[in-house]
Amino acid sequence: MPRKADPAGIAEQVLASPKYRHLDEALVRRMAAEAAGRFRDHNEAVKYAKRKLHQAFGAFLTGEPASAVRGCVDAIRGGADPREACRTAMRAHASTAERISWLDPFYAKVSAWCAPVSSVVDLACGLNPLALPWLGLPPDATYWCCDIDRELVAALGRLGEVFPVQVRAQACDLLTAPAVPAAELALVLKTLTTLEQQRGGAAGAVLAALDAPHVVLSLPRRSLGARRSYVDDPEALVSRAVSATRYRVADRAEFGDELLCHLVRDG
Ligand SMILES: C[S@@+](CC[C@H](N)C(=O)[O-])C[C@H]1O[C@@H](n2cnc3c(N)ncnc32)[C@H](O)[C@@H]1O
Repeated sequence: MPRKADPAGIAEQVLASPKYRHLDEALVRRMAAEAAGRFRDHNEAVKYAKRKLHQAFGAFLTGEPASAVRGCVDAIRGGADPREACRTAMRAHASTAERISWLDPFYAKVSAWCAPVSSVVDLACGLNPLALPWLGLPPDATYWCCDIDRELVAALGRLGEVFPVQVRAQACDLLTAPAVPAAELALVLKTLTTLEQQRGGAAGAVLAALDAPHVVLSLPRRSLGARRSYVDDPEALVSRAVSATRYRVADRAEFGDELLCHLVRDG
């Protein structure tokens, strides 16, 4: 008889796989519950949960992000040029790697919009904390970042050893009410699409919960042919997400295939 799908059994099997064993358990359990709600058969439900995890996480891996960060920290401690070491490590995460060619103008624009800031939160950060040398934060600034890969966030926490900034990295599922600290700047880079794919309305809910006077968000620009719904249309996704908040889009910029928006709060 086929095994009946139950959330605990699905989560256990997913967490046993080498690719997903480092993932935040709350996220895996949420996806397992969704899978059990859709499929009665255990194997079908596991397949669905893994497909959703690939879309949210696995699709962005181009190497081993955690070991890339550890290697970067060790290289800088050993005297390597920090920007060079960070650029090299960024290649282990596809989304962050895509930004390497326009890191200078990208962060010059972020500074022109928001500086000076001494506290930053970076949501669903991937390897973007490796851009710390481009952010130009003052000594003792705070940088809080989160993602769903526990091994990665443990490695990112070590960036404070080589940069004069207090770095705090946390594993969290942004869809389950995480405690994102207040900050002067929130970075939400190439993240709205994946949040919205996990739950309609999640992008707006995450933005609405932010306590930051400046938000910089970015989205990959897509060709018209690749747009199947508002989730694939960057402008539509931004206006829908922002309409659920007290923010408004103050300015926009484009670098390569990345659309950048500066959000500010009214009043
Ligand atoms: C497209 S990547 C962007 C990475 C980074 N912000 C950048 O632009 O360089 C999306 C990131 O969202 C993370 N992620 C996906 N679902 C998440 C969730 N529910 N909570 C927190 N992070 C999530 C993934 O692990 C991945 O690193």
